Amino acid sequence: MLKFDLLTNDPASADGSYLGSHARRGRLTLNHGVVETPIFMPVGTYGTVKGVMPRSLHDMNAQIILGNTFHLWMRPGLDVVQKFGGLHQFEKWDKPILTDSGGFQVWSLGEMRKISEEGVKFASPVNGDKLFLTPEISMQIQTTLNSDIVMQFDECTPYLSVEPKTKGQITTEREARSSMELSLRWAKRCQDEFARLNNPNALFGIVQGGMFEHLRDESLAGLEALDFPGIAVGGLSVGEPKDDMMRVLKHIGPKLPKHKPHYLMGVGTPEDLIAGVQNGIDMFDCVMPTRNARNGTLFSRYGDLKIRNARHKSDEQPLDVTCTCYACAGSSGLSWANGGREGFSRAYLHHLDRCGEMLGPMLASVHNLHYYLNLMQEVRDALDAGRFGAFVQQFHADRARGV
Ligand code: GUN
Ligand code: ZN
Repeated sequence: MLKFDLLTNDPASADGSYLGSHARRGRLTLNHGVVETPIFMPVGTYGTVKGVMPRSLHDMNAQIILGNTFHLWMRPGLDVVQKFGGLHQFEKWDKPILTDSGGFQVWSLGEMRKISEEGVKFASPVNGDKLFLTPEISMQIQTTLNSDIVMQFDECTPYLSVEPKTKGQITTEREARSSMELSLRWAKRCQDEFARLNNPNALFGIVQGGMFEHLRDESLAGLEALDFPGIAVGGLSVGEPKDDMMRVLKHIGPKLPKHKPHYLMGVGTPEDLIAGVQNGIDMFDCVMPTRNARNGTLFSRYGDLKIRNARHKSDEQPLDVTCTCYACAGSSGLSWANGGREGFSRAYLHHLDRCGEMLGPMLASVHNLHYYLNLMQEVRDALDAGRFGAFVQQFHADRARGV
């Protein structure tokens, strides 16, 4: 099931004037629970948010996490997940899960794959076996996983062409069109198979069309005709300049159907999330908080911080003095700015990194995810209070201040 309640548009932008915001506050009801939007969804590719225990995800108020069709199909395989009755019981996460369809992951294989009308042939990156993924198989896998939100199988149109004749050049309109149209035909096949399987969850369509506004419009119109309960925007943050991403986001975000949830796939930085919300996006996912945590880049209210930098060697402060995560505030949850002194210091995190201790990336992941989740909580609070415009200005001023 899926129910989406639009709670308000930002009252401060009701006339469309305040920062041109299309921000919305919503509530998504799924089979495994309720998700308050706008929301960030931590990525758990292999059935685990890397280095973070489900208990910690609960503590930081994660409402929904991601899994990946492609990876879970490779390992542990469907027979194992089936034995546990689905991904929730296997990974011990009882709140909603969204699974990506495999389209993007197969695309990431690059040279190793061959796309046809029927689907995608590729060699297993695990053991070299010849595999074939189709819209129907993706739906079958996601039905076995029993994810609350199932994504259509699509082709993520690359920014730089992968076609032999034009390889490495910016994807042409012709190429982007044929890719977008293929994704639309696959959308229909996904919908038919999803219905045939009596999947009780919700299937989202994905807008493609590369960097071409009119192709994005055609894609959206095609998906609208199929009446999916939710719409995603794909094919962004795939190597294009930021200006192009923003141009496409500003064009398509405000056109998405008002009474359905809007999901921007694989994006992005904290600034990108705010821009997404301003353009009507309700849901985000990105590997950035967890991946950056593992290579020592930490997000904070006052800008980003590289924990490897020698300037942190003996710094007693936590990563973010306003943060209430376990890394910054310990079990008390009292931030440094509010007098709490239970958190770990920058000096300690710098030390863990120096020694290659695994607690380093674990604490960093908790902090970065908490930062993203809390950012969205602050966005929801600001929308509820009708002060989103002021919030956005403060957000940018704080981020520019520096740590
Ligand atoms: N993740 C990021 N972008 C995409 C996309 O275009 N399609 C899919 N399926 N997943 C994505
Ligand atoms: Zn923190």
